[in-house]
Amino acid sequence: TDVPVLTIDGPSGAGKGTVSRLIAKRLGWHFLDSGAIYRALAWAVRRRGVDLDDEDAVARVASDMKLEFVCNDAVRVIVDGEDVTDRLATEDVGRIASKIAAYPKVRQALLEKQRAFRRPPGLVADGRDMGTVVFPDAPCKVFLTASAEERARRRFLQLKAQGLDVNLDQIIKDLEERDRRDRERKESPLVPAGDAVVIDSSNLTVDEVVERILARLPQAL
Ligand code: C5P
Repeated sequence: TDVPVLTIDGPSGAGKGTVSRLIAKRLGWHFLDSGAIYRALAWAVRRRGVDLDDEDAVARVASDMKLEFVCNDAVRVIVDGEDVTDRLATEDVGRIASKIAAYPKVRQALLEKQRAFRRPPGLVADGRDMGTVVFPDAPCKVFLTASAEERARRRFLQLKAQGLDVNLDQIIKDLEERDRRDRERKESPLVPAGDAVVIDSSNLTVDEVVERILARLPQAL
């Protein structure tokens, strides 16, 4: 555990993914997109026809599923041998992910899978509970937020760019519903770690956020 970790937590659409990827690249560190793990599980659960209300059954899939992140130009997510990368971004998968992410047994089953990403020279970990639960000893923790309107707008543009047929009002509704569930759940709720620095990205560019975080890093290590 002397491998350094930079945790970047926050609600959907705050810019964590973009910022984390850029920082990992700049530092030459590994990158963990923990949301993709929950989404991959959501996909596997739906694929296997597992009852979403059955916590034990969902947790079994979480332990069984063979998950691989393959890094070529971009990261591909492979579940049980199938490349599911392009299916994970949909609101439908996001909704299922957020539902099953509330199950303590599911979170427990995914804990070691996530910690395995901590390899030299370092890790940038993007999620909801990276700083609070998965890597509580991380030397540098960021909680990235933005206003709900701004987050919905970014998500809208992102999905549209992927060629998906999207509706802004529906996205705002989904986003608020998902945030509420992530915040109010008993197990690993979405809250800043006590030792996290909170950055509001509503009025910042991606580069400004990256620079702010990188500026804090040397002191933290
Ligand atoms: O970040 P992303 O939108 O891909 O995450 C999908 C869902 O997975 C979130 O809404 C959240 O419920 C869940 N999640 C989580 N803990 C994480 C990452 C994601 O509960 N560390």
